[in-house]
Amino acid sequence: ASMSSEAKLIHMFKGIPFTTRSSLELLKSLDTFDARDDDVLLVSYPKSGTHWLAGVITQLYNAQVTLTSPIEFGDISKLEELNKLSSKRIIPTHLDYNMLPPNFKNKKCKMIYISRNPKDTAVSMYHYYRDNPNLPTVDTWTAFFDLFLKGDVVCGSWFDHFLSWEEHENEKNILFLFYEDMKKNLPKIVNEISLFLGLNVSEKDIQDICKKSSFSQMKNDTEKENNDPSHTVCSLTSNRKLVFRKGAVGDWKNHFTPKQNRRFEEIFNEKMKLSKM
Ligand code: A3P
Repeated sequence: ASMSSEAKLIHMFKGIPFTTRSSLELLKSLDTFDARDDDVLLVSYPKSGTHWLAGVITQLYNAQVTLTSPIEFGDISKLEELNKLSSKRIIPTHLDYNMLPPNFKNKKCKMIYISRNPKDTAVSMYHYYRDNPNLPTVDTWTAFFDLFLKGDVVCGSWFDHFLSWEEHENEKNILFLFYEDMKKNLPKIVNEISLFLGLNVSEKDIQDICKKSSFSQMKNDTEKENNDPSHTVCSLTSNRKLVFRKGAVGDWKNHFTPKQNRRFEEIFNEKMKLSKM
């Protein structure tokens, strides 16, 4: 893409880079959004396992609920659209805690935050930048690595995002999950989610859900279906086929040089000084 068409892909709002798929008008009106007591928020920094978790949650509810597109995706008509939904809403978002519509906080809506080793998130996001026409071009991994550490990427700094949510980790309406734990023992995490959401799900249902939520199964299902444009939970694409790449823990080892790893850890330790992670 040329420089001028690239420049239009990104705009800043409150210091954070958004794609122009999130209109400024919509972003500005989030503060007045009307939450409902039974809304469930699905929160993540991009490339942390959002679609995986969304798949699990929709199966746990088995119909009756609507998984919406991300609250920050689209134009001003978005809020009206969400207002009109009569069913229970599962609402995804990549927003940082401070940008979340205050109504969700006041009403103590249930929120699930999923995160992932930021080294793997960085690698996953690098491939996303390369494959996703809604994101600017990056030439090399080295160049992307620097942008990621500076927080000069869509949704801003991973560290700021994580810390803004971690601060609220102990609130009863917020559940913190890790991608790596889902990889290690999915049935255990699915059970945890179902308890948190107050659902009554049998052992057998949990086994079924886990089977249908494997990386290969989800990737296959996506390749077979026709593209439903409202079908992603990432505000950065409507193309679900871009989501299922490798689905592994530790792919960073195939990309980071030893020097990059040292630099990453230095910055991680500095930024995460006050974190419990
Ligand atoms: P990789 O790029 O490392 O493969 P998000 O849904 O937040 O956009 O995150 C996308 C990442 O989650 C991608 O990581 C994708 O492959 C991985 N992923 C998606 N579904 C998965 C599943 N069922 N099991 C494991 N990883 C999955």
